[in-house]
Amino acid sequence: MPKPAYHILVCTNQRPPGHPRGSCGETGANAVLEKLGMGIEQKGLFEKAILSTSSCLGPCSMGPMVIVYPDGVWYNKVTPADVDEILDQHIGQGKTVERLVMPDAVWG
Ligand code: FES
Repeated sequence: MPKPAYHILVCTNQRPPGHPRGSCGETGANAVLEKLGMGIEQKGLFEKAILSTSSCLGPCSMGPMVIVYPDGVWYNKVTPADVDEILDQHIGQGKTVERLVMPDAVWG
């Protein structure tokens, strides 16, 4: 198996309902993870991208968070409906899905 060009990280951290920081798990990260996994398989992207879960990445209120390396692109508020676009445009064509990029202002 060749080394994949992309590594996709999905924060699946789960905090209890009502926790002040919220969590990606609470806002649907597992459904995004499942759709990414199925999409990689269905689109034959095994040799192009590897998928991993992550614990908290920091900007919890912006989740579900998905990061694509080596580009260092942080996607926020990702839903299962966004997954095909990430796989087809970013992984398939190397083009960032600008509408999903987390604003730099979140970092303060
Ligand atoms: S819980 Fe996902 S970024 Fe903190």
